[in-house]
Amino acid sequence: MAASRLTLAVETGALPLPAQGRIGLFRARPDHDLSAFPAERLHIVQGFCPHYRSLAAQGLDCSVAPEGPYAAVLVAATRSKEETLGLIAEALAETQPGGLVAVDAQKTEGAEALLKACKRALDVEDVISKAHGKLFTLRRPETLPETVAGWAKAAAARPGAGGFVTRPGIFSSDGADPGSVLLADHLPDALKGRVADLGAGWGYLSHRLLALEAVTQLDLVEAEHAALESARANITDPRAHFLWEDATSWRPGAVYDAVISNPPFHTGRAADASLGQAFIRTAAAILKPGGQFWMVANRQLPYERTLEAAFREVETVAETPAYKIFRAARPAPPSKRGARPT
Ligand SMILES: C[S@@+](CC[C@H](N)C(=O)[O-])C[C@H]1O[C@@H](n2cnc3c(N)ncnc32)[C@H](O)[C@@H]1O
Repeated sequence: MAASRLTLAVETGALPLPAQGRIGLFRARPDHDLSAFPAERLHIVQGFCPHYRSLAAQGLDCSVAPEGPYAAVLVAATRSKEETLGLIAEALAETQPGGLVAVDAQKTEGAEALLKACKRALDVEDVISKAHGKLFTLRRPETLPETVAGWAKAAAARPGAGGFVTRPGIFSSDGADPGSVLLADHLPDALKGRVADLGAGWGYLSHRLLALEAVTQLDLVEAEHAALESARANITDPRAHFLWEDATSWRPGAVYDAVISNPPFHTGRAADASLGQAFIRTAAAILKPGGQFWMVANRQLPYERTLEAAFREVETVAETPAYKIFRAARPAPPSKRGARPT
């Protein structure tokens, strides 16, 4: 959907790409059709590891943070309005005065609200409404209005509930997720040795696990760069290691004594159980034969069959109206664990 809007915007001149200079694409995803853009002048800014790797594999120049100045920037909206306004503020700051900043958003990403917020602060030049979303353009003024500095401030990392650093757009940025709290409350004191936290977010679960002295190493595996940076700020324990990886396909050099996880269950806005199922297979693949996997899941998610295929021992340790806590042990041989996602 976004593909046709982007292409149309370039082809109709509503998104007039500069004849020279670098073009920043903030939060571009592999499902965006970038064929109308000059690939050799693009700079992709994407902090989500699977998207980053997929775009880099297409030969595109990718970074996790802006590296301006740019002649123009296209911001692809995320699910968080605060995060997207922060990206627009960054785009304006990194674009030369007079340069173009474009914003592409689906209706479900709050396209209308973003347009309104931008119209209140800046001169919006053009608006294209197509395929359940909008693309609009701004010119970078010589001096940026105060409102834009406010957007940047509101999107920045900062200490929140419990004193933990988080930032808008990352999972449970307003405080610890109740599912993670429940899992942390059920982790046995006997956990020890090398542990991995798959989808570690800003580090709540990992922080709780590190209360156990017998844990000698904890690898926080997280795909969202901004979340991992928050985890780094929250956890200064030398046993912790921070790995920017795609946990669905990540395979470390050495196996673990325990794996813990509150796996993701969304791709964009859509519920997606296949992510959690892939996390379960990774857990089975990276555990020692005597290792244990502890996970929390929203109770309606279909994880039992995947757990039973991947492990020979599966137990539901606790159930609440919202969540289930599973403990699994004795990983099944690779051929029995079900498909490994590509
Ligand atoms: C449900 S949250 C749990 C976060 C954290 N453990 C906590 O307790 O707050 C799932 C996390 O998985 C991350 N994630 C999503 N896809 C991922 C992937 N393919 N590989 C690694 N992490 C991923 C998300 O960014 C998010 O931080």
